[in-house]
Amino acid sequence: MNKSKILLLFAHPSQRRSEVNRPMFDTASKMDFITAVDLYAEYPSLNIDINREQQRLLDHDLIIFQFPFYWYSTPSILKEWQDLVLEYGFAYGHDGTALQGKRMLCALTAGGSEKAYRADGYNHFTIRELLQPLEQTANMIGMDYLPPFALFGSRTAVEEGRLSAHLECWQAVLHALHNNDYRFEDLAALNVLNDGLSHLSITTHG
Ligand SMILES: Cc1cc2nc3c(=O)[nH]c(=O)nc-3n(C[C@H](O)[C@H](O)[C@H](O)COP(=O)(O)O)c2cc1C
Repeated sequence: MNKSKILLLFAHPSQRRSEVNRPMFDTASKMDFITAVDLYAEYPSLNIDINREQQRLLDHDLIIFQFPFYWYSTPSILKEWQDLVLEYGFAYGHDGTALQGKRMLCALTAGGSEKAYRADGYNHFTIRELLQPLEQTANMIGMDYLPPFALFGSRTAVEEGRLSAHLECWQAVLHALHNNDYRFEDLAALNVLNDGLSHLSITTHG
């Protein structure tokens, strides 16, 4: 199978305070098979260039939304981006087939623990369940939706020494997704992509 060109759309409104997403974005930006876009830097007034964003989508095979989980959802610019860019006649509706067969991934960080994102936990729903509007958007426009790649307990990741392992894993995941070193069916039903690292031929330490 051909290698995948990756478009990474990063959304973080207060990057000076970011301990996890900013280094994740910097890591991805250095990889030559990734087009890394900082949405808040490009569109500080949310004045999104629809034609340019649609062309970016056409030029890539895998679209990654990278963001900190805010109020059980994405930061607002990603919603604005969806509302404007995924237009009728482009992404759906009559002749709207431009994104069919491409893949979508959410790469997010959550302050809550993994245990909190369970039916019997503090947040009552899994992270994948909470991201269902994006999953169903992918279904509706004919994209293959990968389970989210998530870091839980993000606010204590640095002080607990978990950041470098996460960045290594992130880099390995991006390489595997680029090389198509996996079968989509092995991953599709997982709660988080992190549970399927063996299917991506990734071994982790500890
Ligand atoms: C406005 C706001 C809303 C947040 N909402 C959630 C939430 O719904 N669930 C959660 O687990 N963490 C929530 N958090 C915590 C962030 O997810 C956490 O700060 C972020 O993942 C840390 O990443 P960073 O170091 O790159 O900023 C929220 C934080 C902010 C500032």
